[in-house]
Amino acid sequence: MATKPGQFLVAKRIVVVGGGLAGLAFVAALHQLWTPSSPQLEITIVERDYPESDTQEDLHLSLHGGSQDEGLLAIQKLGLLDKIREHSALNSGAIRVWSDNWKQLASIDPKPYGTLPAAAMRIKHHDLKRILLGRVKDSNATWRWASTCTAAERLSSGAIRVTISDTTTQTTSTQDCDLLIAADGANSKIRASFIPHGTELEYAGANQIGGISRLPGGLPHPVHEDYGLQMSSGEGVCCIYTPFDNETIGWALSVKGPERGTKLKKFTPAEFADLKSEALRTGSMFGEPFKTIVEATDPTTAFIRPAKERRPSPHDPKLLDVVFIGDAGHVTNCFEYVGADCALKDAWDLAEQLCRNISMEAAIAAYDKVSIPRVNHAIDWSHERIRFGHSTGLMWKVYKHGMAVQRAMARKKE
Ligand SMILES: Cc1cc2nc3c(=O)[nH]c(=O)nc-3n(C[C@H](O)[C@H](O)[C@H](O)COP(=O)(O)OP(=O)(O)OC[C@H]3O[C@@H](n4cnc5c(N)ncnc54)[C@H](O)[C@@H]3O)c2cc1C
Ligand SMILES: *[C@@H]1O[C@H](CO)[C@@H](O)[C@H](O)[C@H]1NC(C)=O
Ligand SMILES: *[C@@H]1O[C@H](CO)[C@@H](O)[C@H](O)[C@H]1NC(C)=O
Ligand SMILES: *[C@@H]1O[C@H](CO)[C@@H](O)[C@H](O)[C@H]1NC(C)=O
Repeated sequence: MATKPGQFLVAKRIVVVGGGLAGLAFVAALHQLWTPSSPQLEITIVERDYPESDTQEDLHLSLHGGSQDEGLLAIQKLGLLDKIREHSALNSGAIRVWSDNWKQLASIDPKPYGTLPAAAMRIKHHDLKRILLGRVKDSNATWRWASTCTAAERLSSGAIRVTISDTTTQTTSTQDCDLLIAADGANSKIRASFIPHGTELEYAGANQIGGISRLPGGLPHPVHEDYGLQMSSGEGVCCIYTPFDNETIGWALSVKGPERGTKLKKFTPAEFADLKSEALRTGSMFGEPFKTIVEATDPTTAFIRPAKERRPSPHDPKLLDVVFIGDAGHVTNCFEYVGADCALKDAWDLAEQLCRNISMEAAIAAYDKVSIPRVNHAIDWSHERIRFGHSTGLMWKVYKHGMAVQRAMARKKE
């Protein structure tokens, strides 16, 4: 066995399936961390889309940097903080909790970790991807665009064979490799091929309805700046507000109940009208600007979204050459959207462990050890948020009292 860190990677054919945030950040990180004097690694990226297409055009992401486990740390290590900053709004990362009539009940104010300029940054998914792509272009990776992976299998030789369908020509081909990085998102085909019983998402007990609202006159106070959660007074209704820029805000209204079917965009005018009146009815206890925001929803952004998740599991010792990163490995639900944070951190951590350890076994063990707890922590936290946000009866009173005590203590400190 080679004893220099990372040498076990030499001469391994590496295929990364999925050129999303996780896949791009992984290739960029591996290129950056790989010792220049070592032989070049052979990396192929297989991506379903075309280079400049982005199906998540209107998606704004919050990247967090309140601890070393969050996405901005990976961005900093990749040396991309300045580039990201040009395209993003800095944000305190504060989370407000408001009552139905907009009294501030509680506030969480994270501090930026280390030398980060802010505890959160908001950036368009499209811009983040473009910046990562620029960095990957510096590496010597081979791209296979418009190539959808349909399946993967282990050959008797021990190698892994990926089946690829060319989107333009509809032809099928295969690509063999020795290390397969599954970065193909929540509906991972690699996952379906190797862990057929591990593809289901679990319902976390609440459904969100919402959309993105455009208010050309500016965002109303107090939702103009900070991410926040509005609670009813024990009726079990919760609304999350995410301001994107000075005129655009995302909203998501939720109650607990049986799982509903996911519906994203593509609402007919009648369905959209139904969604809006359901929101106004369900959130009738919420004072203005709730109604104004709902009324200003862009119909093309409407959604019904059950909170669904999948916890990560340790890599199978018999399958260490198929490694899952980002949404392919785990999914956090819509009450704690940190999937991009986790995808970027996964990518950096995996690349780092591969370069630092002396065997695949050691690298994957070290990767699982950091990657799994952070996702479980986020999922646990989302469950607490679901419980808290939709609390009723005695539970609501307990939370309300707890927040009042906290406020009193904060006032005393001042
Ligand atoms: C509305 C919404 C808001 C969100 N907000 C936030 C937020 O504020 N902060 C945050 O941290 N996270 C947020 N997330 C989550 C975040 O977007 C995802 O967790 C993140 O994009 C996951 O990155 P990924 O690279 O693992 O997967 P993806 O982004 O899904 O990328 C997968 C890539 O693989 C490609 N691909 C898929 N299947 C195949 C195949 N079979 N063959 C070849 N290529 C394939 C896709 O084209 C894509 O490029 C949000 C998500 C949603 C839906
Ligand atoms: C890039 O990879 C090719 C083989 O895929 C190799 O011939 C070439 O030398 C590499 N370039 C650099 C700069 O290492
Ligand atoms: C929002 O910002 C844009 C660009 O910075 C500016 O053109 C616009 O007038 C602003 N809108 C409001 C309501 O302040
Ligand atoms: C793998 O590398 C990491 C980082 O250097 C280290 O902490 C860990 O102990 C290593 N694992 C093994 C089994 O050597």
